[in-house]
Amino acid sequence: ANTMDREELLFSYKGILYPVTVCSPEVFRAMESLEARTDDVILAGYPKSGTNWVGQILTDLVATFEKKNQDEENSVNEEELQEFPYLEVGDIEKYERMNKLPSRRVIFTHLLPDNLPRSVFKNKAKILLLIRNPKDVATSFYHFSNGLSLLPSYETWDDFFIAFMTGKMPWGSYFNYLSEWNKHVDDENIMTITYEELKENRALGVKNIAAFFGISLTEEELQSVVEKSSFQSMKENSPKTHGAMGSILFRKGGVSDWKNLFNEDQNQEMDKAFEEHIAGTKLGTKLKY
Ligand code: A3P
Repeated sequence: ANTMDREELLFSYKGILYPVTVCSPEVFRAMESLEARTDDVILAGYPKSGTNWVGQILTDLVATFEKKNQDEENSVNEEELQEFPYLEVGDIEKYERMNKLPSRRVIFTHLLPDNLPRSVFKNKAKILLLIRNPKDVATSFYHFSNGLSLLPSYETWDDFFIAFMTGKMPWGSYFNYLSEWNKHVDDENIMTITYEELKENRALGVKNIAAFFGISLTEEELQSVVEKSSFQSMKENSPKTHGAMGSILFRKGGVSDWKNLFNEDQNQEMDKAFEEHIAGTKLGTKLKY
């Protein structure tokens, strides 16, 4: 948790707030030079929707597929070709380097569709849109913010709840995020998945994701991806994959933990906002609420 003034810790870009510790306007501007590709594997989701989880699945699927299909002569040193997968986090030269990376590139982002490089939609890069129940997202975000010095801290849950409902927080409003992405749900290059359905049936989720990206693997290979993406396995592996952040990130990994935080007024306020902004939309129908 960062106790610096919240205002000092956040900057606004195209109407959305971002933490200065992670993002910068210069990097956002440089991002426009990214040349998206049809075979890019993009994961879009509001923070705390399970990005690291689905990110692990995508990275593993792609790595397994590439390894299988790579001829020895053209084999590349994977370590050298890695970029931090979060699109909006990096330095101003990141996108020029990314343009030189071989396919397939795996990219994660919390950005709104309008804030992505235009080439993403122009070149029909494939996007997996990940959504999660807003009550659990808020719960997860609250604990994460207070555990991490990169993000502003909130003295009380009530404080955080107000920020979440008004969208005056890092990466902006959840409700706005879903409304904006809802405009793209019918695009042929977009597939939506919910945290909750993946939690219910990881094997089916992994299979559907692989099919969407045209990644054909054997049952055995798919099964290995499924096993490595269990909460337990990712948590155990997290000192290696996420360092100290792992213990904050892999918190509970379940559904309905919001019941331990929300009071009845907050519950009703969120229901009302959900009804107003999301319920009638296609994404709203998909969301487990
Ligand atoms: P909780 O805080 O509710 O536990 P993100 O990666 O977008 O920041 O999302 C983090 C949330 O995803 C956390 O939720 C985390 O526990 C959960 N998560 C991470 N790995 C998971 C897994 N393998 N299975 C289920 N949930 C997972």
